[in-house]
Amino acid sequence: MCGIVGYIGNELAAPILLDGLSKLEYRGYDSAGLAVRDGDKTIEIVKAKGRLKELKEKTDGGMALKGSCGIGHTRWATHGEPSTENAHPHHSDDNAVVLVHNGIIENYQFLRDKLVKNGYSFYSQTDTEVATKLIDYYYKKYKGGPVEAMARSMMRIRGSYALAIMFKDYPGEIFATRRDSPMIIGVEGDAAYLASDVPAILKYTRSVYYIDNMEIARLGKGTVRFCTVDQEPIEKQPVQITWDAESAERAGFEHFMIKEIHEQPRVVTDTINSLVREGRVDLSEAGISEEMLRSFSQVHIVACGSAYHVGVVTQYVMEDLARIPVRVDIASEFRYRRPLLTPDSLVIIISQSGETADSLAALREAKSQGVQTLAIVNVVGSSIAREADHVIYTYAGPEIAVATTKAYSTQLIVGYLVSIELAHARGQIDDGEYGRLLTELRTIPEKIERVIEDKERIQWFAAKFSNAREAFFIGRGIDYAISLEGSLKMKEISYVHSEAYAAGELKHGTISLIENGTLVIGILTQEALYEKMISNMAECKSRGAYLMGITNYGNYNTEDTADFTVYIPKTDPHFTASLAVIPLQLLGYYLSITKGLDVDKPRNLAKSVTVE
Ligand code: G6P
Repeated sequence: MCGIVGYIGNELAAPILLDGLSKLEYRGYDSAGLAVRDGDKTIEIVKAKGRLKELKEKTDGGMALKGSCGIGHTRWATHGEPSTENAHPHHSDDNAVVLVHNGIIENYQFLRDKLVKNGYSFYSQTDTEVATKLIDYYYKKYKGGPVEAMARSMMRIRGSYALAIMFKDYPGEIFATRRDSPMIIGVEGDAAYLASDVPAILKYTRSVYYIDNMEIARLGKGTVRFCTVDQEPIEKQPVQITWDAESAERAGFEHFMIKEIHEQPRVVTDTINSLVREGRVDLSEAGISEEMLRSFSQVHIVACGSAYHVGVVTQYVMEDLARIPVRVDIASEFRYRRPLLTPDSLVIIISQSGETADSLAALREAKSQGVQTLAIVNVVGSSIAREADHVIYTYAGPEIAVATTKAYSTQLIVGYLVSIELAHARGQIDDGEYGRLLTELRTIPEKIERVIEDKERIQWFAAKFSNAREAFFIGRGIDYAISLEGSLKMKEISYVHSEAYAAGELKHGTISLIENGTLVIGILTQEALYEKMISNMAECKSRGAYLMGITNYGNYNTEDTADFTVYIPKTDPHFTASLAVIPLQLLGYYLSITKGLDVDKPRNLAKSVTVE
């Protein structure tokens, strides 16, 4: 995630670009930059680490930069820590090509090696500088002009991108293209605008062109032309935007949480792509080799909140696949219980923000005992990412809603992939099983999409139970781990008291709380435990419970026991948390809005908890 903007017209470009970026800060805010050009003079680039206000101060609100053509960027670091060097715009050595990018270039290492062989050097750690220099390379080699150089580069680049580019030889024009990253273009009077999202330009125009994947746009003063990669012209009609400015920031969704729920297929794909290359899990960027994985004889997973629940799922998956002892701890407990860590332990810290005080303290405790530490973190350059020996990033992008959804889903993916790689390194699964698991994992984003499509049923159910005062979530194995997250979602945003229980444990006390109408939500995704789950649900029903069941397509006799059943697509039993959690996120969300609560900012909570 990052935000990009572009402007060409008769006004000073920089203040307009800064204003546009301020509407895109929700897409990332660790550094920002502008490239502006006055007529055919040289392109001036200014960048600043930190929030957009740093860049505003550095450029006197944009007034310090002369020129009426420019591009801008607000960054959410993926490759390379937040720093001025890594901030966009990026440029080729002679500024022939100046570029801003949103997305992830998966084969950037390969392209970078090729460019180095052709005499290029690199000043940053970003995948974007690679794209800039690749375009520069084709531009100079074939001399076919900007569109041709872009088209050749697009054929070589794997991954997602939205690019806005200025070419030194083409003053008065901005070139743009995209693949799987958003971009819109607006034309009004003598001006043309581009942006990652509508709010950035809504102040200037409500007439917007949607550029499709692999199309190229050429913006001039008050003009835009579109073509294919083969330079065939494309005719497009603008769409009139009717949203107000505030809902536009949420891309038309009512709340950030539901927007982020819908982003899950995309960010799960990005996370898989960042770690799986040519059919293999590649942890080399985190400095983890197969040999190193073989050296561990136990694993400790430490985290807080939903990240802890990811740890519980990972414990089941990792122990089952890799046959290695795994212990999961709540960070605030781990740090004070003088944990016993043998030298051949691996300690995994999971954290969206990378700043949670207890998780950071747990990491320091593990490091002080001299064991290897691996952080699974979303925010690049955060404290936990900086201090851990090894880091794997999730590619969730900025998460705004306090209740996590997409970060949780991407953390699960990393948990699966580390487990699969560990299992293979330890000889617990052969090449065939390894390939089968990775192939199945690739189907998860599309299956998540299908579960989200069914959201109206959950909405209906939430409306029916909007007065519920309590609920129980029950499951066995991985389904118990999913129950923990479902229960937390319900508590934190809809303020309904709920408990998650291992289904077999309910009868040892808690079942006395079940009475007429008590809501019990059973998760039944583990085929091997299905019959036992049905029995546990029947025990609740015979005491008056109203039963909701979440199970795999095909298990239709669940309806003989449950009063309301939600089906999820079939997948490998190790991966079901990724699908079963979706209806539970939706249930928490719809209960909250049905009750008229502030779903994105629930009372008493904070997104990043930097105190004990
Ligand atoms: C807070 C948030 C939770 C989150 C937990 C851990 O309590 O409200 O959603 O799971 O912190 O945060 P982290 O950033 O370490 O994942």
